[in-house]
Amino acid sequence: MKITKINEYIGAEVTGVNLNKPISEAIKIEIYNALLDNVALIIRDQNFSAEEFMQAVSLFGELMEDQNRRYLADGVPMVSVLSNRHVDSTGKPAKIAHNATWHTDHTNQEYPPKFTILYPVALPDSGGGTALCNMRAAYAALSDEWKVKIDHMKTANTLISSARSSTGNLDIVKEQEVAGIPPMIHPLVRTHPEHGTRSIWFHKAKTENIIGMEPQETQDFLAELLAEAIRPEFTYTHEYKLGDMLVIDNRSSMHKAGFDYDHSQHRMLYRALVRGDRPF
Ligand SMILES: [Fe+2]
Repeated sequence: MKITKINEYIGAEVTGVNLNKPISEAIKIEIYNALLDNVALIIRDQNFSAEEFMQAVSLFGELMEDQNRRYLADGVPMVSVLSNRHVDSTGKPAKIAHNATWHTDHTNQEYPPKFTILYPVALPDSGGGTALCNMRAAYAALSDEWKVKIDHMKTANTLISSARSSTGNLDIVKEQEVAGIPPMIHPLVRTHPEHGTRSIWFHKAKTENIIGMEPQETQDFLAELLAEAIRPEFTYTHEYKLGDMLVIDNRSSMHKAGFDYDHSQHRMLYRALVRGDRPF
């Protein structure tokens, strides 16, 4: 197995390992540590059915269910399917554009996933990559003035924020209204439980408000924070090849899907989520 850094702040490529076969404890630890150090790993040349993908991702921890139960791999409910060909309950193409912002997954849950793991099944000829940003580097590079401002902020997180409900998936908006679940409160800057670094951490479309701010003011503030914090050198956009397994440490990063591809072509990924801790 060989692990090669892709750039200074985020991403390393792993070659020479077949996750369909049992791997040693030493290799497991090496992969895990490389993930924490590099925030994201691209493990090349894998060949998974949904079932095999589920088995392989278990090496990173206990899996958790995707809260969206609509699009799951056949017979493998711990694996969800991201596709530009899903339809909603009215038979129309499901809206997906609202995910095209920097975010981290499932922030409305008490225990959001520590890792998100993606594996492409069908790819457009070009584009449709996943952009990643090292948010601990982004936090560290902020001015002291910014840090003082955001250090103790708390976000109220819902399935979909009122500011975004007009552009979100209609089924999800309805589900939230029916469920009437109170928002989940999390810190805007979280501490990595395994190495203590602090990162900016939120999902704008799921943030109803920052405590003490109105919803629209919150959206404007988060947009301003992203513009300030995300610098090109902290980012990497992974353009998938078939066989790639992308593993993202959500405690130190945010990501966004690329929509820069021919939407008449199929883009489909398997996704698995590894259970995390309560952010602090
Ligand atoms: Fe995501």
